[in-house]
Amino acid sequence: MQSGRGDCIVSEIQLRFLVPDDIDDVKALCKDWFPIEYPEVWYKEITSNPEFYALAAIYNGSILGLIVSETKTRAKCNKEDQDLLANSFPSGTQVAYILSLGVVKDYRRHGIASLLLDNLISYLSSPERSNCKAIYLHVLCTNKTAIRFYERRYFTQHCYLPYYYSIQGVSKDGFSYALYINGGQPPWSFMDYVKQFGSVLAKLQPCAIPQRMVRGAGHWLCRMVSGVTVADSHMDHKL
Ligand SMILES: CC(C)(COP(=O)(O)OP(=O)(O)OC[C@H]1O[C@@H](n2cnc3c(N)ncnc32)[C@H](O)[C@@H]1OP(=O)(O)O)[C@@H](O)C(=O)NCCC(=O)NCCS
Repeated sequence: MQSGRGDCIVSEIQLRFLVPDDIDDVKALCKDWFPIEYPEVWYKEITSNPEFYALAAIYNGSILGLIVSETKTRAKCNKEDQDLLANSFPSGTQVAYILSLGVVKDYRRHGIASLLLDNLISYLSSPERSNCKAIYLHVLCTNKTAIRFYERRYFTQHCYLPYYYSIQGVSKDGFSYALYINGGQPPWSFMDYVKQFGSVLAKLQPCAIPQRMVRGAGHWLCRMVSGVTVADSHMDHKL
């Protein structure tokens, strides 16, 4: 964290959407932040296509941070992300993918990324976007800073993606992380099934089962004994 600037920077940050004139600044920032090279068309799209939620954090007229997200139906997700939601959510359910999130090095740990993410979350949590059930992203397994950031913001690891990235010709592993919103739910894990089984068992009160069995056996015995006695008494009468 840089000394002297203080955390009040966030209160002086203004947020605005990216515009085509930002393209050179955005290119320079992304080159600095990410080991991946994006094609020219990607920069054009995120700075001009309103389909992208591309928000910049501005301080003293400069871009200090940005977040870029795209909302799509789960059917349009890459294969590895299609199981982001439980099967009960139809293929038309929407999910939001974070393509990019970064903050200028000298201004990190001041809450700027949190501010950008909070803005995206509140936009996606509005009643008009209630069909959007998850926010997700991919991250290099080695990017511990970003992983700490997302985990601190309640994102959970969705899956491990071996050889997901190709960085300067070298394959690198990744993770996908997700945050469920608007009632979204991940598919059931093995542990969820175990928990469900446990709670069903708890409702059955397994400790009561032996007692019930003993009680049942007792009643059965009583009926048998009394049945024998009655039968005996009948026999007595017959005799
Ligand atoms: C990840 C990144 C966007 C975080 O931006 P930021 O503005 O520093 O994040 P914030 O200040 O909002 O941090 C919020 C919390 O995240 C955690 N966090 C962020 N950076 C961290 C770090 N370097 N080490 C440990 N925890 C960290 C902390 O819990 C922090 O809260 P705190 O400062 O009160 O402890 C920034 O480090 C960055 O731009 N990295 C390079 C680009 C990148 O990797 N982007 C993610 C691609 S998936």
